[in-house]
Amino acid sequence: MKISGNTILITGGGTGIGRGLAEALLKEGNKVIITGRRKAKLDETIKANPGIIGIALDVDDPGLVDDIAQQIAREYPELNVLINNAGIAGLENLSEGKLDTAESIVTTNILGPIRLTAALLPLLLKQKHAAVVNVTSGLGFLPLTMMPTYSASKAFMHSYSESLRYQLQDSKVEVKELIPPYVQTELGGERQKNDPNAMPLDEFIAEVLSILKSDPDAKEICVQRAKSLRGAESSGNYDAIFKGFNDAMKTGSFATAGIEV
Ligand SMILES: NC(=O)c1ccc[n+]([C@@H]2O[C@H](COP(=O)([O-])OP(=O)(O)OC[C@H]3O[C@@H](n4cnc5c(N)ncnc54)[C@H](OP(=O)(O)O)[C@@H]3O)[C@@H](O)[C@H]2O)c1
Repeated sequence: MKISGNTILITGGGTGIGRGLAEALLKEGNKVIITGRRKAKLDETIKANPGIIGIALDVDDPGLVDDIAQQIAREYPELNVLINNAGIAGLENLSEGKLDTAESIVTTNILGPIRLTAALLPLLLKQKHAAVVNVTSGLGFLPLTMMPTYSASKAFMHSYSESLRYQLQDSKVEVKELIPPYVQTELGGERQKNDPNAMPLDEFIAEVLSILKSDPDAKEICVQRAKSLRGAESSGNYDAIFKGFNDAMKTGSFATAGIEV
């Protein structure tokens, strides 16, 4: 994927990682369109970064996803990069038998990117160079058991990205996976934004941009800090890492997690 001269749609671009990517990619010389449900967050981002374009979108609504695809084809027919970044997370105690959190996560984190990719792919396939970037998580490779559906949604999107990449291998559409570690955003609530155990957002975005520049063909964008989660399974020590990580996280003890998150 080239780093400049693209027209890029970033879902969830009004906050956190999506906003960080939008700002950095605008500075690199791209046209950037951000979406999200909260218009106020889109407006804040646009005001601070003249040039960014905002379109309200709830990715949970298949009708709205089709509408935005048509709008993009009309107004930005040169769109060549889709970053499926919007996502939600939630804690679940599976013995309670409640399904609301699981159902919401599946709708937003799985059906959202599947539907938006399907709706925009006809346009992306027409471009000289195009890319779909799916934002997964280190937890897709080593589940945090207190967030079972969230972790599984990211494992799903890893697998789906592999299949999409294979199916599109003879096209001009690249498929990339962006694998964040634990980053200072409000994904898990206000506290996470200042959690010293999480990677500062600006450092994360700078490392992502540096990988995009130094290795434009990389299928996975995995910052150094996410590598221990990404490599847990291939380490040969998965069971011990899984138990050590989840036992430590139960008490919030990052120091004893035995792995960088
Ligand atoms: N921060 C981390 O530690 C971390 C780690 C690994 C992976 N990630 C992934 O990184 C991505 C971005 O998360 P973040 O950390 O930047 O958290 P965030 O600031 O909460 O960003 C999530 C974004 O998704 C949007 N969104 C949520 N539901 C949506 C929906 N139904 N329709 C449209 N937009 C929706 C939100 O905007 P609205 O609420 O306005 O719609 C928000 O802008 C997520 O996929 C997350 O799973 C984050």
